[in-house]
Amino acid sequence: MITILGIESSCDDTSAAVIRDGVILSNVIAGQAVHERYGGVVPELASRAHQQNIIPVVHDALKQARITKEEISAVAFTRGPGLLGSLLVGTSFGKGFSSALNIPMIEINHLQAHVLAHFIKEDEHDTNQPGFPFLCLLVSGGNSQIILVKSYDDMEIVGQTIDDAAGEAFDKCAKVMGLGYPGGPVVDRLAKLGSPDKFKFNKPHIAGYDYSFSGLKTSFLYFLRDELKNNADFIEKNKEDLCASLQKTIIDILMDKLYRVAKELQIKEVAVAGGVSANSGLRAAFEEYSRRYGWKIHIPKFAYTTDNAAMVAISGYYKFLDNEFCTPDVVPYARVSI
Ligand code: KG4
Repeated sequence: MITILGIESSCDDTSAAVIRDGVILSNVIAGQAVHERYGGVVPELASRAHQQNIIPVVHDALKQARITKEEISAVAFTRGPGLLGSLLVGTSFGKGFSSALNIPMIEINHLQAHVLAHFIKEDEHDTNQPGFPFLCLLVSGGNSQIILVKSYDDMEIVGQTIDDAAGEAFDKCAKVMGLGYPGGPVVDRLAKLGSPDKFKFNKPHIAGYDYSFSGLKTSFLYFLRDELKNNADFIEKNKEDLCASLQKTIIDILMDKLYRVAKELQIKEVAVAGGVSANSGLRAAFEEYSRRYGWKIHIPKFAYTTDNAAMVAISGYYKFLDNEFCTPDVVPYARVSI
């Protein structure tokens, strides 16, 4: 029996999870409301909140999993990419825990963990995991990538954003409309009440399989500036249609390249991961492509879309099987590819 404690602290969610033989036993996440009034994550405050949360979160994860510390085979923690001060909390905790219990520790790449979240089993009869090779659209506040997943530890970026991430496009446009932070979920909610074809925004023309979202943000901003000159209530009166049209544009951009990669590589198994995979329009687009093109799709449970330690623990489980442990001198890294 292999039992992994996963620790995630790369940005503004402190999370701990327990996975036993690939099956989830607990996944506790403490968000950080402290950032809301600043309209974005404040790194110093995030590190401090991780320090406050980490012990109670681990305690809860063990309690919910109904296990004791002594039953844990190894501790896995996110090494990067992320905010350095935040990562230091999880990394240091992992080292202390490993040393105190005399168990191995495992470093995890946060981006790979998002992809491997699809291998978390809800119970031992859960056989809904993807087969290799498959494609994964990883869309979050910091990333927009199309990844070719060849095995648990062999992943290749086929296309990625050359500027903003899809989540940033949601958040920045939402901010311009005064919808608060993070704006993605608010846009999603309002979009359900509006018409996606009411407004047209520029789509990028980028060669190959890369994405670009900074042009859309600028086009959205200029469009609103012009409309507001004639009608100061324009945003308030058109909020729902603006959100629906913006969301449709972002989804069209994402799906268009993903479809082209799938066709070129002749891969019909396609997954989505990261914070933006919570978006209901994107989920509906995956369902539609599945019906239209015979894709076998993998859409994560909501709890595994944003940052969580369950995905770190499952990644740790597969590294444990490969005897891939790290040494106590390991340090976090803010930037690293998949
Ligand atoms: O993966 P994630 O939790 O962490 C970061 O990369 O920071 O992703 C957060 C991003 C934010 O940009 C947020 O607005 C976006 O995911 N997001 C959504 C939705 N839920 C979260 N975007 C669109 N629709 C949603 N329902």
